[in-house]
Amino acid sequence: MSQLAIVTGGTRGIGLAITKTLIDNGMTVVALFQGNEKAAKAAKEETGCLTMKVNISDFNECQTAIDKIQKKHGQIHVLVNNAGITRDGTLHKMDQQQWLDVIDTNLNSCFNLCRAVIPLMRESRYGRIVNISSINGQKGQFGQTNYSAAKAGMIGFTKALALESAPRGITVNAICPGYIETDMTAAMNSDVLENIIRQIPVGRMGRPNEIGEMVAFLSSEKAAFVTGATFSVNGGQYLV
Ligand code: CAA
Repeated sequence: MSQLAIVTGGTRGIGLAITKTLIDNGMTVVALFQGNEKAAKAAKEETGCLTMKVNISDFNECQTAIDKIQKKHGQIHVLVNNAGITRDGTLHKMDQQQWLDVIDTNLNSCFNLCRAVIPLMRESRYGRIVNISSINGQKGQFGQTNYSAAKAGMIGFTKALALESAPRGITVNAICPGYIETDMTAAMNSDVLENIIRQIPVGRMGRPNEIGEMVAFLSSEKAAFVTGATFSVNGGQYLV
């Protein structure tokens, strides 16, 4: 029987590439999405994934969603916390809502979903959790105090949960994508983006499937000895 994976933000951008790659690797994927019904329908048609509308910044909604998925499909093998938003702006101009929206969607969601799946994974003594952080959580980024804080938070969260979960056969890892061709980067000011691309030694932006492949490995049984690690996939833009 195929393994079951949950991918947040799994119907667009990097998340859609992750969904596709996991399906190519024989998994059944439930792609969670928040608002874009059209993209969810297209993702379902294109990949054969299952979709579910969940507000991942709501603790109770996450618990209910995981309960439903588990009752319907049984064991949850993989959780990929991928969904994220930007509300860029320098701190002296940032309002509280820009801060809260990014922390809620990018970081609190990670707690909400892990808190719901961890008891199940501990019971089955198997699990793979992959948290999609960012290069900007590693190095900081002008105009992204909110996003950099959330993404750096995911790295610390990953390490702590990895320590707690290792004895139960559960691995927890983080991936830090650099600048990847998605709607998120397409929304950036083109001068700012061109300047960033000049700083990427590989000479181009990343492709969503290049993150998907890394997720597929970390989500597989083969990656049992890899945990608490942070993987940069950034074309050499920032070396840690
Ligand atoms: N470093 C240093 N100084 C900078 C700077 C930088 N990177 N960017 C701008 N400045 C300077 C400007 O030159 C300007 O200086 P002067 O006043 O002396 O002219 C000053 O800072 C103010 O700049 P802006 O007028 O541009 O400030 P703003 O508030 O209008 O815009 C911003 C700020 C929208 C955040 C803009 O800087 C920006 O778009 N930055 C890029 C943010 C970014 O990289 N987002 C990534 C989105 S994709 C993503 O997040 C995915 C992922 O994980 C990688």
